[in-house]
Amino acid sequence: MSNILDGKTVVVTGAASGIGRAIAISAAQHGAKAVIVSDIVEAPREGGTLTTQKIEALGVPALFVRADVSKKDDNDHLVAAADQFGGVDVMVLNAGISLRADGAEVTEEDYRRLMSINLDGTLFGAQAAARQMKASGKAGSIVLMASMGGLVGAGITVAYSTSKGGVVLMAKALADALGPDGIRVNAVAPGTIDTELLRSTPDIAAASEGFRQRTPLRRLGKPSEIGDAVAFLGSDLSSYVSGIALQVDGGLLAVI
Ligand SMILES: NC(=O)c1ccc[n+]([C@@H]2O[C@H](COP(=O)([O-])OP(=O)(O)OC[C@H]3O[C@@H](n4cnc5c(N)ncnc54)[C@H](O)[C@@H]3O)[C@@H](O)[C@H]2O)c1
Repeated sequence: MSNILDGKTVVVTGAASGIGRAIAISAAQHGAKAVIVSDIVEAPREGGTLTTQKIEALGVPALFVRADVSKKDDNDHLVAAADQFGGVDVMVLNAGISLRADGAEVTEEDYRRLMSINLDGTLFGAQAAARQMKASGKAGSIVLMASMGGLVGAGITVAYSTSKGGVVLMAKALADALGPDGIRVNAVAPGTIDTELLRSTPDIAAASEGFRQRTPLRRLGKPSEIGDAVAFLGSDLSSYVSGIALQVDGGLLAVI
């Protein structure tokens, strides 16, 4: 498709399924040297071929590394696995969950579980990648997965929006902290993307038709469209872009 990721080793968390899977496959299509696919399970939620097999079919080396992003050590272990491919150049912290029952009355247990993955897991992954990039003097790119729910609020996603709003600010703060080392940090804020997360979260699934009707492009997004945006942020085409939250939402947040 392109060679914008030529020579780069890309690591993607939550990459068995949905958006993460599409990001990993897009990385291979955009010329990545190697792709590390990480998740807590290897089989995609949608069923079908493993992400690593899809990537290898494109002629690009792929490795699956099991890692629970909420565990700090798992993130360190994941980044260490990139050593065999010359170290991580592009770290994509995509793993995230939504809750079946979110809102003002979200339970403590659900809230803490969501934060441990969406927020803690994102920071631990970024820290692990930045440490390796600094040690090897790489001008790497770290991409965090936010959401339109991190830019505007919704009563059905109180905990989720809180976590994703944190991810947007994490990208800005880390961009400042790591910029002097040449490391860029950005977030991507997808709109309504057609994945299993959307379909299996009842309140979000119910709201998605309304979102579609209000979206200027009048359709849901495809996971591959997030993959392409991440490829841009991971590549040298965005060499002077840091600290942003790139909205990939068909224009939804541009209108009322
Ligand atoms: N689908 C959408 O409309 C949408 C919109 C905005 C943002 N997002 C964000 O995009 C990301 C991917 O969402 P998706 O729609 O592809 O969901 P998904 O459920 O299809 O995929 C998420 C993946 O993350 C993995 N995961 C869950 N807990 C994990 C953990 N502790 N450690 C490592 N991996 C873990 C799951 O196994 C799964 O493979 C999430 O951060 C989500 O919040 C999705």
